[in-house]
Amino acid sequence: MAKYTDITYQTQPQPRQIRLDTTCSCNAHCLSCHRFLTKRKGEMPIELIKQILDDVSKWHPPLREVVPVNYVELFLREDWYSILYMIAQKLPFTQIVIPTNGSFMTEEVIKLLCSIPTLKLINFSINAYFDETYEKFMGLKAENIPKIRKAVAYFKILRPDILLWASMVFSPLYQTDLERDMFINYWYGVALPQILAPSSAGRPDMKPCYPVKLPCRSIFEDMVIGYDGKISSCCFDADFSLDLGYLENGIMASWHNPELTELLIKDAFSDFNAKLVDSLKFIVWEGRIAALQGEKIYLNVGQISGVQMGDILKVVEDANEIYDTELGYHVGKVAGRVKGTLEVVGYFGQDGAISVIHSGAGFKENDRVELYQ
Ligand SMILES: C[S@@+](CC[C@H](N)C(=O)[O-])C[C@H]1O[C@@H](n2cnc3c(N)ncnc32)[C@H](O)[C@@H]1O
Ligand code: SF4
Repeated sequence: MAKYTDITYQTQPQPRQIRLDTTCSCNAHCLSCHRFLTKRKGEMPIELIKQILDDVSKWHPPLREVVPVNYVELFLREDWYSILYMIAQKLPFTQIVIPTNGSFMTEEVIKLLCSIPTLKLINFSINAYFDETYEKFMGLKAENIPKIRKAVAYFKILRPDILLWASMVFSPLYQTDLERDMFINYWYGVALPQILAPSSAGRPDMKPCYPVKLPCRSIFEDMVIGYDGKISSCCFDADFSLDLGYLENGIMASWHNPELTELLIKDAFSDFNAKLVDSLKFIVWEGRIAALQGEKIYLNVGQISGVQMGDILKVVEDANEIYDTELGYHVGKVAGRVKGTLEVVGYFGQDGAISVIHSGAGFKENDRVELYQ
């Protein structure tokens, strides 16, 4: 059984996920929502969205995930479809993830969403099983629940590749255990039920029951860009008080500003400094096995990424997420097993490398590859 002390974080060479605070409006009033902790109001200009996407489109490897919404409803923007279309055009290798309360899922909206090829996941935030709880928690009409179920069925026909989740922010302050279990049963097999632990920051009058032992992994992997170009590294920070400045010299310049990040994290998690300082070291880079053909193993990183002929690279399994059943949430990751090593023998394409097995076995497509050091 893994211990807390086995868990480490490393600041990634580039963000794994970027959240765009495209708008600040929402038609719901969820009891847990952080949007009530800020007075920031505005809409991200389409020019800024374009500027961000142009910046990200130059990254190599491509950004893994973009979430075009923070604490709001994307579908309240009239140009939501143009935004998604632009993301898909400019970032064809980046997955789009949309959390939504689902109240705008008309047939037309569903069809338009299904035409976005890189849309990977939709999370419907429902938060309740009983109508009464739904209306109290979300401030929306309970007729949305069956509407979302129908929408899910339609998505499955049109785009079976899109992952569909149904989430509940669960706390005994809001629902009973019975309601949570009924919610899981109701959605199981329809959309994947997700039970989310509420962040205590949702209740400004209350302190957490336990001291913070581990910071959220998100700080090391994700970036949130406000409607006005302000940057934060925490999606629960609706007020952008964990301030990383503004997007002035591009996203990567802000991301690679370790002094600022160190300060910020030391301040936020004074309990946890030793481990954090360690985690602030950047990984040199990370690649993946793109394909296996006979003896040759093709990698998605090559000369431009700094891979040299003759380099020995280690192949590692993805890190395991550790779920703490007592705390009720994921507390971090434990490094994956090393499967073996590869030797670089050539290059291909714009920035790919060809390798052969140096040691080990059982390599698969998408396995992670790191410099051996
Ligand atoms: C803030 S919403 C924004 C997008 C959209 N309006 C929605 O509700 O899905 C993103 C996710 O955060 C969840 N959430 C809201 N308040 C939360 C809290 N205090 N702690 C954890 N998650 C929360 C929501 O249920 C939702 O799944
Ligand atoms: S639907 Fe999303 S953004 Fe709106 S109040 Fe609920 S959690 Fe907040």
